[in-house]
Amino acid sequence: MPTVYLNGKFVPIEEALIPVTDRGFLFGDGVYEVIPAYGGRLFRLSHHLRRLQNSLDGIRLDNPYNDAEWKTILSTLLKHNRGTAGVNDDQSVYLQVTRGSAAKRDHSFPENVIPTVFASSNPITEPDPAVTEQGIAAITLDDIRWHHCDIKAVTLLPNVLLRQQAADQNAAEAILIRNGLVIEGSSSNVFVIEESNILTPAKGPQMLPGITRDLVLELARRHGLSCRETDISEEQLREADEIWITSSTREIIPVTMLDAKAVGRGAPGPVWKTMIEFYRSYKESVRNGTAG
Ligand code: PDD
Repeated sequence: MPTVYLNGKFVPIEEALIPVTDRGFLFGDGVYEVIPAYGGRLFRLSHHLRRLQNSLDGIRLDNPYNDAEWKTILSTLLKHNRGTAGVNDDQSVYLQVTRGSAAKRDHSFPENVIPTVFASSNPITEPDPAVTEQGIAAITLDDIRWHHCDIKAVTLLPNVLLRQQAADQNAAEAILIRNGLVIEGSSSNVFVIEESNILTPAKGPQMLPGITRDLVLELARRHGLSCRETDISEEQLREADEIWITSSTREIIPVTMLDAKAVGRGAPGPVWKTMIEFYRSYKESVRNGTAG
């Protein structure tokens, strides 16, 4: 039975209970992070904790812990669940902080409530080689979300509905378009390759600043690949040689079908093949503690 962290205690998941008055439950009033850990080592932890702080600032909620306390909690959680995640011990940590629970349901912030802090860890399964070899199908949809998508809020109803629309069409992701521009996926960031140039939309309130996205740009620059943060039109997306989506759980996945049409040659492209090697070797260096 997995062990989870809830409000200061490590308990079996069945014993982790919160009141139904929790504002996360009633209003979606909270934020979250998803952090992979390879061989027990948290991947890009400082980046995730910085983004958590930005999300908490965005919803005007004090951070219940400092970075050292978060690190201790999450590392202890990983140790509790060691052995459940195969020989490599690759786990993905989910953490969420909500505004806690108040006696009366009222939209405005309650006074003197203690935030609810929850964290769990789940085994990461290696990306399915069939998916990696063939790539995935995606569809384009209008971005129906709010204007603060840089906050990693637990309020994910639009993302859920968008992703389900993709699933209904046997697609693995919905790529969101706003005012004719590519924004991101329903739970991923998007890259477009044009003649070996790696392009991705610039950060802003319209999208989540993905930690994997930043790592891909960092690796591209480190290895001298051409990359740029820029507006990408829907037309450019449709004409792209390659399209990738990135996230902490899906890493870098090539999109080979867009709206039922082949992207480029309809197979993972050469730039993706180069980048995924850089990514995998970086990941290995984290796993064995030699990452620079
Ligand atoms: N989601 N954009 C959105 C809307 C996301 O939900 C995610 C990740 C990303 C990629 O961010 P990162 O590289 O930091 O994982 C971009 C997580 C994995 C989730 O909701 O489960």
